Amino acid sequence: MREITFPRGREIVLGVGAGIAAYKSCDLLRRLQDHGFLVTVIPTPSSLNFVGKATWEALSGRKVNTDVWENIPAVPHVSLGAKADFLIIAPATADLIARIAAGRADDLLTNTVLTTLAPIILVPAMHPQMWQNQATAANVALLRSRGIHVLEPAVGRLTGDDIGIGRFPETSEIIAKFLEISQSNCDLLGRKILITAGGTREAIDPVRYIGNRSSGKQGYALAFAAAKRGAIVELIAANSTIPDIEGITTIHVESADELDLVVRDRFPEADALLMCAAVADAKPNQYSDSKIKKSALSQIELTTNPDILANIAKKRRSNQVLLGFAAETDSDLLTFGKAKLLAKGVDFLYVNQVSQGAIFGSDLTSGYILDREGGAAKVEEVSKDTLSEILLDNVVERLRYANV
Ligand code: C5P
Repeated sequence: MREITFPRGREIVLGVGAGIAAYKSCDLLRRLQDHGFLVTVIPTPSSLNFVGKATWEALSGRKVNTDVWENIPAVPHVSLGAKADFLIIAPATADLIARIAAGRADDLLTNTVLTTLAPIILVPAMHPQMWQNQATAANVALLRSRGIHVLEPAVGRLTGDDIGIGRFPETSEIIAKFLEISQSNCDLLGRKILITAGGTREAIDPVRYIGNRSSGKQGYALAFAAAKRGAIVELIAANSTIPDIEGITTIHVESADELDLVVRDRFPEADALLMCAAVADAKPNQYSDSKIKKSALSQIELTTNPDILANIAKKRRSNQVLLGFAAETDSDLLTFGKAKLLAKGVDFLYVNQVSQGAIFGSDLTSGYILDREGGAAKVEEVSKDTLSEILLDNVVERLRYANV
């Protein structure tokens, strides 16, 4: 089983050098979080004279270390860089720039610079004399020739009486530059996406249940992809063994009734519901508190479960987008799919052929994306990650028209 962990496209290491502009980096951190990024701060030891560890830990919600001798079992000088999708160093002082140019590794931040494969962006801030000094200019040129992005400092008032080039740029400018460099796709930024995953279990007795073969892979892949695109994701997971994804609120449920309860509770706040979970169509009439004896197991009376999706679709606002899934074993996928889309009252239905054990538990999928307007787009065999991106493209498009 593939573990869905990092990198997720939204992990940033924010390095902080020992300049007074360190206090402005607090705002930069906050604005990066507003854009859905998860930030780990690595200050240089001397930068703590300007902004202390407690501030960074409180703002980032994560543990903060400055040197390689802390938390050794986690090998932080390698693991932090490996986990990062981007490394932003702000402010980058003349000394820090020189140390990076020389390939030094005398604190946790410079170690991370050496070990990461992520794009590195430096935001210099210093007095004009230091920025224009030949040594700094040569170091900056060297770093740029190595593919490190070194932003131009702003011109204006500095800490003392001097005015000139060297100011820390406005946070909005840094963010704009960063988004341009990173090409982060933020088209779901701030959208609340509710996703269900896995398969429900209907208890017969303390030992047995009625279940299905859904692994949760598609729902988790959707959650991962939506979070990467900036969405605030709530995942309702039914009996999946896939680990929770940091940054995604995951609510674990077992039965269809529990899933129904959570969906009804969370749906009003959602911009979109992606109903990926395989919901058991029926449950035992009666739950037996004790294990039913083998001799009494010949027949189990069943009651139909509520159709969660069809019921919620009746309560939807016009600006909420609904996507359903249908696993079919009939050969005429399209006819069945189109009828189901109408019956469920959804905007999209992804219908796939699951006969002979196909798709459930697999990393691959194929099928059709049907829409309310009668469209049917064939999806040739792709990974569940790729399908997630395609489905989200459709959701984004519809959300745009839904005028929310
Ligand atoms: O009717 P069928 O099970 O084929 O429909 C599949 C879609 O409906 C899926 O999106 C599934 O999550 C949802 N569903 C539901 N409640 C049920 C059965 C299915 O929400 N009781």
